[in-house]
Amino acid sequence: MRLLYVIYRACVKHECGRGIRREPGNGKQSKPSILTGRCHFIINGKNVDGIFKNFIDKIEEAAAMIRINEHYLKLQASYLFSTIAKRISEFQTVHPEREIVRLGIGDATRALPESCITAFHAAVDEMAADATFRGYGPEQGYLFLRESIAENDFKNRGANITADEIFISDGAKCDTGNFQEILSTDITVAVPDPVYPVYVDTNVMAGRTGDFSGGRYQNIVYLECREDNGFIPSLPGKPVDLIYLCFPNNPTGATITRDQLALWVDFARKNKALILFDAAYEAFIRDDSLPHSIYEIPGAREVAVEFRSFSKTAGFTGTRCAFTVVPKDCMAFDGHGNRHALHALWNRRHSTKFNGVSYPVQRAAAAIYTIAGKRQVKEIIDSYMKNADLIRREMDGLGFSCVGGVNSPYIWINVRQDSWEFFDELLNKAGVVCTPGAGFGVCGDQYVRLSAFNSYANVEKAMGRFRNIY
Ligand SMILES: Cc1ncc(COP(=O)(O)O)c(C=O)c1O
Repeated sequence: MRLLYVIYRACVKHECGRGIRREPGNGKQSKPSILTGRCHFIINGKNVDGIFKNFIDKIEEAAAMIRINEHYLKLQASYLFSTIAKRISEFQTVHPEREIVRLGIGDATRALPESCITAFHAAVDEMAADATFRGYGPEQGYLFLRESIAENDFKNRGANITADEIFISDGAKCDTGNFQEILSTDITVAVPDPVYPVYVDTNVMAGRTGDFSGGRYQNIVYLECREDNGFIPSLPGKPVDLIYLCFPNNPTGATITRDQLALWVDFARKNKALILFDAAYEAFIRDDSLPHSIYEIPGAREVAVEFRSFSKTAGFTGTRCAFTVVPKDCMAFDGHGNRHALHALWNRRHSTKFNGVSYPVQRAAAAIYTIAGKRQVKEIIDSYMKNADLIRREMDGLGFSCVGGVNSPYIWINVRQDSWEFFDELLNKAGVVCTPGAGFGVCGDQYVRLSAFNSYANVEKAMGRFRNIY
């Protein structure tokens, strides 16, 4: 039956492009039927459709089967953090007595700010009474949250973004992953290397790449970020259609200046490209001269979509709340060159496939923008940044060259050896977990990422262990 299926597919793919067209023997070619779009089987001028009908029915029966999206088969089998988890669990099985300090995965460790908790509780109480209960909310998010975001995160920084350009969601991971869905599959995608893996994997799933070989997917333009360019990607030498940028960067912790970001905005405008700007770590920026949003750059509204998250800002990694900004004048093009507003397409996608973030969670998120909320968020971020500062000073002291940790919770360390080897060495000798840079791309080969998301006591302990072995 498999063989018949292969023959059948070959028939269907015949150049007439509209259906089965077979010419067993020396028969004339048939024209596809106008009614059915199918060709006829003709042998020696005789229509022998009837003879073949039973045969074709059988083949079609055998061919009917649920099929997968084969682009998923190109994905690399193990996701970075599951491989790390596996190695830690193997280590713990052999050394159950050893205490591990985790400076690997970037997950918040501090509790939600008190203002968020108070608002969260009050909103749950509202759900407990018929008079204040809320069912389905607006898919785009409640106006009270969108207005607070527009005012505090954008207008206060001179960026002209309105509440109706903000889409509340359950995560920047989902949004950066999903956004490509409203774009054509035959576009050229550029990603930084090293990169937050979600940008690449979701484009692989959509079929925009070739196979994986030598640590990279074919048909992706990799923008190399190395010491010699300060971990800021240079503009590509050729036009690309979609560009992912992330600042402050995960994994390198590098930040981008206004002038550097303006070069990317100009490039996108000249090339009719789109920038997907991931600012999930914006809250960690200390240097006032650095842009928090791409919309602080003139002209960015027309060529950029921005992703933000409350995950790292206020410990919402488990609570889930984020948002995406799609300015109304941000355009993309159809096959005839006609302009289309991405806002309308994303709105369509969002309201079809998403039911909004829960009301209590949105109330908790809105509390971040109150006076008390802002003070509490700042205290939490300051505590992580104190950890980052300690890591950075210790690494400098030990002679490692590193970047990040100043306007970012991540420190990217040049370990001058294979990053997985370093990971194993650090785990086995010191019981400290880092993230191997190779998991973020070819350019991460000799680097590891340390995360400041932990308690100061744990970071001190980890640094002491580092000192003992390096
Ligand atoms: C660059 C970047 N974007 C997005 C996310 C995910 O954010 P969220 O928790 O809102 O999905 C992360 C989380 O690690 C990240 O590092």
